[in-house]
Amino acid sequence: MKHVSVLLQEVIDIYKPFERGVYIDCTLGAGGHSREILNNIKGKDSGLIAIDLDARAVENFAEYVSKHNLERQVEIVKDNFVNIAEIWEKSEFKKRGLVCRGVIMDLGFSLDEIETSGKGFSFLRDEPLLMTYGDPSQYSHTAYDIVNSFPKNELVRIFRIYGEERDAERVAVAILKERKHRKISTTRDLVEIVLKAKKISPHARRRQKIHPATKIFQALRIAVNKELDNIKQVLKDVVEILGKGGRIAVISFHSLEDRIVKQTFKYYKDKGVLEVLTPKPVVPSREEKAINPRSRSAKMRAAEKM
Ligand SMILES: C[S@@+](CC[C@H](N)C(=O)[O-])C[C@H]1O[C@@H](n2cnc3c(N)ncnc32)[C@H](O)[C@@H]1O
Repeated sequence: MKHVSVLLQEVIDIYKPFERGVYIDCTLGAGGHSREILNNIKGKDSGLIAIDLDARAVENFAEYVSKHNLERQVEIVKDNFVNIAEIWEKSEFKKRGLVCRGVIMDLGFSLDEIETSGKGFSFLRDEPLLMTYGDPSQYSHTAYDIVNSFPKNELVRIFRIYGEERDAERVAVAILKERKHRKISTTRDLVEIVLKAKKISPHARRRQKIHPATKIFQALRIAVNKELDNIKQVLKDVVEILGKGGRIAVISFHSLEDRIVKQTFKYYKDKGVLEVLTPKPVVPSREEKAINPRSRSAKMRAAEKM
């Protein structure tokens, strides 16, 4: 299955009429938003900076750019978007005097990462517990490190805060019990522990719409990648680098992220720095949700630099 971009047209509409300048896609992924931005800036004296931590996302987009002779209009950066200020400082576009007109952040992971990365993002596969968007060796801890070495109270905190998991304590206790005997190495090991802790039989599990390990996996992924801290940091820097009238659009997939975006936009609105373009978040249409169920929980907020 291929990753289907969420709220694609809605994001593009935010930047119209695509004035001369630079557009930064902080979360390149399968390149859906980036390709559409390129279609809109083609032939204009404008550029796209496409950032992702995922090596494959970057390689695939480099092939696309080369195939379509777009090298002059695109800079591809394999990095954490939290380094956006530095990436912008080093950009050839900035050196040429172009202004940053737009930033898009489509948070979380792509379907390609779930299906082919082999890093344990999905509870439906049996893979090593890594959950890093980038190279695992660059991380202070992977999901494996967290479940095998973090103290109980830290596990409870992660599951409760990042997963909003009601059974945080129970799952943490089960993890500690299990790791006395063996290492918890794979996604399947973890799923079994969660099912046992929640006293759910495989039969009962099959009847549930939402997998009982969903929130535990979300919590670990957020903790490994420091996702909430990254968003807070990057939004501050985006506000700095956007030119006057430049616009930022953020698509989030759970309430923790959306709350940060909403509060940050409000903070800058009160300071007279941003104008909020979406008093209510933009959500996918019924048609989009039907075609792409993954878009169900998406919310987009956008703002303009004053
Ligand atoms: C939802 S996907 C983006 C999909 C893309 N907009 C599209 O239309 O194909 C999110 C991407 O962001 C990347 N990502 C997540 N956190 C990141 C970070 N802090 N720095 C750089 N890339 C990140 C992931 O590796 C993933 O490829």
